[in-house]
Amino acid sequence: MKSAPQLLTDPFLQLPTATSVRVVWFTEFSGNKHIVNYGEKLSQTIRASTTKLSRTREDQQSRVANRTYKQPFKRDIWRHEAEVTGLTSGVRIPYRVMSVREDGENISSDVFTLAPSPKTGTSLKILLTSDHQLKPMTAANLQKVVETVGQVDGVWFAGDLINVSDRASEWFDDHRGGALFPGLQGRAKYEMEHNGVKTIYTGGQIIQHAPMFTAIGNHEVMGRLARKTSLNDEFDDTIPRAVAQKLYSGKSLIDNSFNTDTYEEIFTLPKSQEGGKKYYAVSFGDVRLVVLYITNMWRTPNLDPKYTGRYREAEKDLNNPENWGYGQIIYEPITKGSKQYNWLEAELNSPEFKQAKYKVVMFHHPPHTLGDNIVPAYTDPVQIIERDEDRKIKAVRYEYPKDKDYIIRDVVPLLEAANVQLVFYGHSHLWNRFINPNGVHFLETSNVGNTYGAAWGNRKRDVPLGYKEDYVTLGDPNGLEPVIPTIDPLLSEDGQPIPYIASNDITVFSIFDTGTGLVSSYRFDTRKPDSEVVKFDEFELK
Ligand SMILES: [Fe+2]
Repeated sequence: MKSAPQLLTDPFLQLPTATSVRVVWFTEFSGNKHIVNYGEKLSQTIRASTTKLSRTREDQQSRVANRTYKQPFKRDIWRHEAEVTGLTSGVRIPYRVMSVREDGENISSDVFTLAPSPKTGTSLKILLTSDHQLKPMTAANLQKVVETVGQVDGVWFAGDLINVSDRASEWFDDHRGGALFPGLQGRAKYEMEHNGVKTIYTGGQIIQHAPMFTAIGNHEVMGRLARKTSLNDEFDDTIPRAVAQKLYSGKSLIDNSFNTDTYEEIFTLPKSQEGGKKYYAVSFGDVRLVVLYITNMWRTPNLDPKYTGRYREAEKDLNNPENWGYGQIIYEPITKGSKQYNWLEAELNSPEFKQAKYKVVMFHHPPHTLGDNIVPAYTDPVQIIERDEDRKIKAVRYEYPKDKDYIIRDVVPLLEAANVQLVFYGHSHLWNRFINPNGVHFLETSNVGNTYGAAWGNRKRDVPLGYKEDYVTLGDPNGLEPVIPTIDPLLSEDGQPIPYIASNDITVFSIFDTGTGLVSSYRFDTRKPDSEVVKFDEFELK
């Protein structure tokens, strides 16, 4: 007997307008019919349209129940989306979804609530999060969000939702219990153990009721399609479009450089004419949120000749340019005069932006942080090829001129001039914040997934010796002092307040309350499952 049909995810909300919102969910069958029931007594019905994800696969590193793979293998997943229309701002109504399989068997979700985009003047709680990546503290973090502040009205996710974008189970059903959707839907099952005490965290039921707006992080980007034998290697196999054009002329540029197809197939986001879903702006209550595509390839700082690193090519590949990594390549230009920069400039001059009470910009790469990932500078790698007398390649190195950091040189001055109050980002897996001389707040609240540490005190960044440019080992390379948390900072061993949280035990989340203008950050010590969540920092957007 065939088992009963199941939904691969609960439904979740996307792209609210003044009178509508999209409901999206996934199944592993194409089905005969997929519907949303909504309204009082769920008496209204709308049919969903169905698409199939084109690049989702599993491979030898996948952790799915009852199955192992020897190499990347296509996984069939269908996505259903319906737009519920005729809604009234401020009025929340119940809904559920139902999918009917080809054999007529059906499955319904639980009942959740939906609402269209909130009007200006509405007090909203928005969760600021990033870098979940199936990390051990993510489920605990999201569970504590719901236990502490209840249902939020929106989620802003500053990139790195998963580790390897085309590996389906990372989004849906990794059997260790920490996949993306289960965490954000209260269906995670992630076990943590301290001193022999086991606690299972479920995440929080969040995005069934609240729309999520996301930015692309480096982990949403996949490399060249199927040139490697595992999805991890394929993830690492990105090259610049211009190089792909030379190496693979006449073939698909997307398949032969890098792509964000799976991410774009999963989410329905606001779009800009220039950047589509990759960069966009949206009004949500009193906020104008501008989302940028600012992320680059992450490569190891290790100078060992065996690695394709951020500062050098691997020795074995010196004569194989098709195997080079080309350093930490930037996926979408943001430099002055680029298409994205011009779009940003126009957006910052738009009436929607100018009239908004709160002006917030979100992207993945940090402009200011104590984290490691801010070095080297956010700029196109400068390739240096060293040759011997016979013109044979001895080394291929990359430098990153700090005075050409596009975020600091080009983007931040624009944001300052436009009176942006908050710049929100992730990538380094820690919590810290900054205020620049013009009063712009910078917040990195990515101690959701586990930390990569802070360059502070005795802990220095791994920077290349003997290189020409300035690679900063400690503090914020872009010159700001971190702000000490205002309410209850952690203390160092000698009792001094620490201006960051970089911990594999203490997880952090932040909530922006548009009613008060306060951005509040909370910490939870996963070593003490019964302990209280502590509000440790708060600042106001004015
Ligand atoms: Fe990242």
